[in-house]
Amino acid sequence: MKTSFTKKLSFYIPMSIIILFMPSINLSALDDGLARTPPMGWNSWNTFGTNIDEKLIKETIEAMIKNGMRDAGYKYIVLDDGWEAKERDKNGQIIPEPKRFPNGMKALGDYIHSKGFKFGIHNDAGTRTCADFPGGRGHEYEDARTYASWGVDYIKYDWCNTGKANAEETFKTMGAALKAAGRPIVFSICEWGTNKPWEWGKDIGHLWRTTGDIIDCYNCQAVYSLGWKHILEAQVGLEKYAGPGHWNDPDMLEVGNKGLTLAESRSHFTLWCILAAPLMAGNDVRNMSDEIRDILTNKEVIAIDQDVLGKQGYRMMDHPGKEIWVKELSNGAWAVCFHNTDDVTLEMKITWDHLWILKGKHNKYKVRDIWNKEDIGIIDIQKQDYEDFKCEIAPHDVLLLKFTPIK
Ligand code: GLA
Repeated sequence: MKTSFTKKLSFYIPMSIIILFMPSINLSALDDGLARTPPMGWNSWNTFGTNIDEKLIKETIEAMIKNGMRDAGYKYIVLDDGWEAKERDKNGQIIPEPKRFPNGMKALGDYIHSKGFKFGIHNDAGTRTCADFPGGRGHEYEDARTYASWGVDYIKYDWCNTGKANAEETFKTMGAALKAAGRPIVFSICEWGTNKPWEWGKDIGHLWRTTGDIIDCYNCQAVYSLGWKHILEAQVGLEKYAGPGHWNDPDMLEVGNKGLTLAESRSHFTLWCILAAPLMAGNDVRNMSDEIRDILTNKEVIAIDQDVLGKQGYRMMDHPGKEIWVKELSNGAWAVCFHNTDDVTLEMKITWDHLWILKGKHNKYKVRDIWNKEDIGIIDIQKQDYEDFKCEIAPHDVLLLKFTPIK
């Protein structure tokens, strides 16, 4: 009998051979259980630059509790460049600027934790940070221990003033230092995509920046910074590198910042969710409109970003003035985002069976318009049992649909 034959055979096969022929399990060196879904939080840089202090951080936390951001999943409070004193102390230890952080970082970390958040901090792999504060070069192990002793849960490590250093090796050193410090810390590699970190970042950190810095405009471009449409463009083809525990990072959110229209904030947020991007709010959450709050806290859109399948979405169609991005979700569902990249309103007519991704295991789907919070109906792709769907999409806005298979 087949079963007994198999049993007998396995009995005689030495263990070493069984191990040799075991299917290779795709575990990265860093498969430490952190960042199984893209990290979410708030980061000081996009709005406040180096102008940060304890008061701002505490007010931000209070606001995020009141406005529902904490409950929506934004948990890392990240102090970007400028929290440090201009120089290390006489023992070489990195220290916070004493006037702006009078109670020190351990106390701030305790406060952050007591409010149900996690503590994130920024520093740099070079001799100085981009804003000219002490960097970590040559101090990796002592700094990692210091951060661990403050209760840091997340570090964004930047790439200014690194000279000719090898990026992979340099980040590896800090990664090893964090590991040696013994505290689980999410490691965010921020070298702007210069050395293709998607090819080596997975075994070193949990996320890596893919481009230069984002600014709050749709498609403008400056020397070091890019509007989010340019950043989106740069993500094409990177989808295969992302997955649970290791994410492409197209930079922090500009949602709610003054250079974007409401539609551009909504579409920016939507597309970052399609990309399974880390969601780091970068606005002044103490003073935001209800519309912006509703974007940042929309649970159905966030669920697309945080879907446990952990697949980054990709561009399915690119035509002048419009594009379609899709993201596979768990249990056979799909998120589909129609993006009007033109400056005039787009009249859309969707014939469902043109969405070839929906053809396969399932035929029948429930279709939901997420931003309008409206169930559009049920379609049967195989029987072509539906009417074409027509709608208008405002300039730079999106239509976000979710397709959930049904029996
Ligand atoms: C770099 C990073 C930014 C920010 C600044 C701080 O430009 O890419 O995200 O951290 O440094 O100086």
